[in-house]
Amino acid sequence: MYIKFCRTYGEDKKDEAKENLSSHLSVELEGEKDKQTEGNARLYRAGCLILTIICLVLLLLVIVLSMKLQSGSEVCPEREETAAAADKQNPSVAPTCDYEQCKSQFSNTEAHRCGCQQCADGWQMFGRTCFYLSTIRLNWDQSQRNCTARGGSLAVITSQGVQDFLTKKGNLKYWIGLRRDGDNWSWVSNSPMQERYWAEDVSSGDCGFLSSESPTEKNWNRASCQFFTYFICQVQI
Ligand SMILES: *[C@@H]1O[C@H](CO)[C@@H](O)[C@H](O)[C@H]1NC(C)=O
Ligand SMILES: *[C@@H]1O[C@H](CO)[C@@H](O)[C@H](O)[C@H]1NC(C)=O
Repeated sequence: MYIKFCRTYGEDKKDEAKENLSSHLSVELEGEKDKQTEGNARLYRAGCLILTIICLVLLLLVIVLSMKLQSGSEVCPEREETAAAADKQNPSVAPTCDYEQCKSQFSNTEAHRCGCQQCADGWQMFGRTCFYLSTIRLNWDQSQRNCTARGGSLAVITSQGVQDFLTKKGNLKYWIGLRRDGDNWSWVSNSPMQERYWAEDVSSGDCGFLSSESPTEKNWNRASCQFFTYFICQVQI
């Protein structure tokens, strides 16, 4: 009986141990399974996070681009209309946007967008003015009329920059918008004569021309307004 008990006890113990072992094993297995699912979940979460971030970045990009596109297309057609209207009376400026409007829409470096600040073919831009150096010769009055018909006037030189620019661009003698009125010389625009670049040995005559063959500091000269020579027109943009 004792033996039996003992045996039974031992067997019981053994069984218990077996049970313990198997349950321990299954716990361990389950733990491994848990760990695996946990690892997968972490992977999925990370993937989800990355995809979400990519989505947000792309969304942001789409918003920014569409805003830019919108502001561009909002500004341009309307400006194209005004430009087209302006173009009819002023053929010297290329179909263009209003410069001020454009500047308010885009930064300085982007102002070339919408074709802002463009001169028509054959015209040269300096600052906000388009200049045209003629290839034909007319007298001073005809030149001024020709420039007016092109939507501008004979060139008015109000800065050293313009003087240098026009001298460099040309290689002939050009009427500019300078004419004597009694004792005084004045510009066609009536703007005050701030800069003077008269040659040392000026001729006589009531109309002023610029000779690009002479040095830029002193290349204005005068001639009879009936003389025929080339001319420079200007148009403000
Ligand atoms: C300027 O004068 C030339 C020569 O007379 C002429 O062919 C041209 O059409 C004129 N331009 C304008 C805009 O009047
Ligand atoms: C010429 O300019 C002076 C002062 O700058 C002025 O007093 C005079 O009236 C002007 N003469 C003419 C003909 O415009």
